[in-house]
Amino acid sequence: MSVTSHKVAALKGTLLVPGDKSISHRALIFGSQGNGASEIHGLLESEDVIHTAQALQSMGVNITKTKGKNKATIWRIDGVGTGGLTEPNDVLYMGNSGTGARLMMGLVSSYPFTSFFNGDESLRKRPMSRVTIPLAQSGAQFLSHTGEKLPLSVTGIREALPINYTLPVASAQVKSAILLAALNIAGKTTVVEPIATRDHTERMLKYLGVEVESGEHSITLKGQPELKAFDLTVPGDPSSAAFPIVAALITKGSDITLPNICINPLRIGLYVTLLEMGADIEFKNKTEVAGELVADIRVRSSKLKGIKVPASRAPSMIDEYPILAIAAAMAEGDTIMEGLEELRVKESDRLAAVAAGLEANGVTHKIEGDTLTVTGGKATGGGLVETHFDHRIAMSFLILGMVAKKPVGVDDVSMINTSFPNFMELMAGIGAEFKKA
Ligand code: S3P
Repeated sequence: MSVTSHKVAALKGTLLVPGDKSISHRALIFGSQGNGASEIHGLLESEDVIHTAQALQSMGVNITKTKGKNKATIWRIDGVGTGGLTEPNDVLYMGNSGTGARLMMGLVSSYPFTSFFNGDESLRKRPMSRVTIPLAQSGAQFLSHTGEKLPLSVTGIREALPINYTLPVASAQVKSAILLAALNIAGKTTVVEPIATRDHTERMLKYLGVEVESGEHSITLKGQPELKAFDLTVPGDPSSAAFPIVAALITKGSDITLPNICINPLRIGLYVTLLEMGADIEFKNKTEVAGELVADIRVRSSKLKGIKVPASRAPSMIDEYPILAIAAAMAEGDTIMEGLEELRVKESDRLAAVAAGLEANGVTHKIEGDTLTVTGGKATGGGLVETHFDHRIAMSFLILGMVAKKPVGVDDVSMINTSFPNFMELMAGIGAEFKKA
């Protein structure tokens, strides 16, 4: 279904951003590996995360959804302990989720059974050799008639081997896949990451009382640990919060508050960038919840100016370039974003999808190698954007429509449910105007 987004007046109010996607996947997976029942509050109930829950259920993990005293939803997971999964009774269908697919491929790869993975049209195009290469070093075998891509099968061996692996690409998914495999491998597994990536896996392991040795650029995990059951509250997703934040910054007279957002230092590259561009963003009531930093965020509309965003910042804002391109379109001067190679292998080729969307809506921009430059000040709108099964492309261009001269259309909004259910309703609650075509 296509939707158009229309010019709006000031955005005002409080918006409750749903739970963090990365932490939600990991909370379910670690819950499954615990000894006893874990409870998760604030789990992101998006399609991506539900696929991870279903994959665990098909390997014998009991997962139920209940209501707590204050009617809040609690997800209860009866952990089977490390080594306790059973051979899946069905294909593990991971939908649109690269994180779900890669993390679960890691988890099952150290079990002596066969699992079959599949996903939607977008996921079937994404590279998997970045996980199959290291996981094969432990003894797992991967079969795929399309080379390295889904659909593929994973067959682990009885006594999988610990490895010492240096990540060739900065990827928290690959790091986490190796660490999850290590949960069922005797001995010490080490991952070396030359460039730091989001560290939710390591933080959660520590929160669960597992000893993790952290070097300057390495993480070592001693396999087959006893994981205790836990109670965990998932903070709001900083990558989802990015959409209302940019919307408020570029819409005159706006003042919004987003309570309880995860501000893990390895996730806030966009916020650092926006502050450098002149954004009025305040972080209030900073606290730590289950090993993660959390804050309430207040945003007021601001005059932004273009800056150069260094490649070294990319891992801490890898999902945020589409929405940064929208902020850049409304900033004064050029915003130069370097080191965007990884954008080519996300839910879509995001570099191409962003450029096509900007082109369709009269925003001046250029791509040179893996650098995107957006020249601010002119967004005529009026274009229809192809989303290519990519939730972040859909949300980003709906935000552009809120400030462009003419409405902006996106061809499909269904994928937004993979990460940010109720995005349109929540944005409408602070003043956005969307119309279904
Ligand atoms: C994620 C890591 C990132 C990010 C994705 C979530 C994770 O992917 O883009 O949305 O939860 O580990 P890469 O590891 O491919 O950079």
